[in-house]
Amino acid sequence: MTKILVIDDELSILETLRMFFEEKGLTVLTADTGTKGMVLFDNKAPQVVILDIRLPDANGLDILKSMVKKEYPAKIIMITAFQDMETTILAMKTGAFDYLHKPLDIDQVEQAVDRAARIIEIDQKTPSLKVFSDAAGSLEIIGRSEKMRQVFKMMGLVCTRQVNVLLQGDTGTGKELTAQAIHRNCGCKDDPFIVFDCSAVVDTIIESELFGHEKGAFTGAEQTTRGKIELAGNGILFLDEISQLPLKIQGKLLGFLQRKEYTRVGGTRILKSNCRIVAACNQDLSTLVDKGLFKEDLYYRLKVFTINLPPLKERLSDLPLLVEHFLNKINRELGTDVTKIQDGVMQRLHRHSWKGNVRELENTIVQALVGCRGNVLLKDDIDRILDQHRLEPVQGLEAFSLAHVEKNHISRILSQLAWNKSRAAKLLQITLPTLRSKIKKYGLRPD
Ligand SMILES: Nc1ncnc2c1ncn2[C@@H]1O[C@H](COP(=O)(O)OP(=O)(O)OP(=O)(O)O)[C@@H](O)[C@H]1O
Ligand SMILES: [Mg+2]
Repeated sequence: MTKILVIDDELSILETLRMFFEEKGLTVLTADTGTKGMVLFDNKAPQVVILDIRLPDANGLDILKSMVKKEYPAKIIMITAFQDMETTILAMKTGAFDYLHKPLDIDQVEQAVDRAARIIEIDQKTPSLKVFSDAAGSLEIIGRSEKMRQVFKMMGLVCTRQVNVLLQGDTGTGKELTAQAIHRNCGCKDDPFIVFDCSAVVDTIIESELFGHEKGAFTGAEQTTRGKIELAGNGILFLDEISQLPLKIQGKLLGFLQRKEYTRVGGTRILKSNCRIVAACNQDLSTLVDKGLFKEDLYYRLKVFTINLPPLKERLSDLPLLVEHFLNKINRELGTDVTKIQDGVMQRLHRHSWKGNVRELENTIVQALVGCRGNVLLKDDIDRILDQHRLEPVQGLEAFSLAHVEKNHISRILSQLAWNKSRAAKLLQITLPTLRSKIKKYGLRPD
């Protein structure tokens, strides 16, 4: 049974919260000073603490600090009449579980306490994952599925041969990561790895970016500049989004691949380069060839060694490994400590469509961890994030659905009224319980 401790010098608050939570079957302890509160905290080990910031004998933030230091897994909800940004940020940074403003909305207090109690319960019954302490693992390509094994085999082959490579796969499947891994594992790891995104540079300067230019080659070319091919030396030139390369430059690149020779823009001197080209493409290059948008000879040159990165949906057996990997990686980056996964999370992840592949999975976990206030990855959080992804890119007929309009309207009204639900219900001309059920149905929450 959940035991909560309320520390506030306003007796009416102590009484209201006591009555409310006792009626729900919780054990409620109360204290009207910080000192008394701290004694109860030490002796009675409550799971949830509701703590006022302004107390007659102490500052609630200091009490929060000492409670957090005890490493006793209590969740502390701060309450205050002061709404300044700094105290809120400070409290959350110090380790508060939540921060609520007075006058208290009893629904909000109840939600916060419920959530805290649920997290504690889930935490107790969920085993911890292995924690990797080194950061080197973050460059690792994760996967044990049959499709990924094929990828690793192909990578092994290209690493032992000086061949050009074409990486094909949908967005977020790990093309760039694979190119980096080829670089680390082939004989050229001490030589440069140069990235050139063919879609990010305007057509007119692509040629000079890639091949360099001589002084005076065009207006503004004040000095001779080396291109990416030259910069790559004996290393790897990663040509991202190769399908975006203009046809004219495709011809010049083909010439380079055939002879390992090229000239700078505006120059006649023939230069040599030994760099290896690893090209990436997230569409099927052969269809672009059919449409005349990609040079056939260049395609044949590149495709000799093609590695197809499978969409995440086709290797769902890798999900648990990937989730564990990202938890470790993101915990390290964000300084969080989420080492447990609630039952049901994996099933939910299995059902998602993963159009953005591994990148989408990584982003989902980052979002979940940023908002996480415990050490368990919760199913509710994952649901909310994935549903939001599903609703965001509203296309075609969905935008006209009543549910979509209703969700947006309620969300707008709530945020305009700073999430005062009673006022929102009045304005929307529905009852408070109806509003609550709609909030739940649409997974709405304050920003
Ligand atoms: N198998 C994997 N194991 C671990 N992390 C991965 C894996 N695949 C992709 N990632 C991670 O997912 C993110 C996207 O990967 P990457 O940038 O390599 O994708 P991409 O195929 O180049 O996507 P795009 O076509 O959109 O450029 C990166 O953060 C990368 O580290
Ligand atoms: Mg990429």
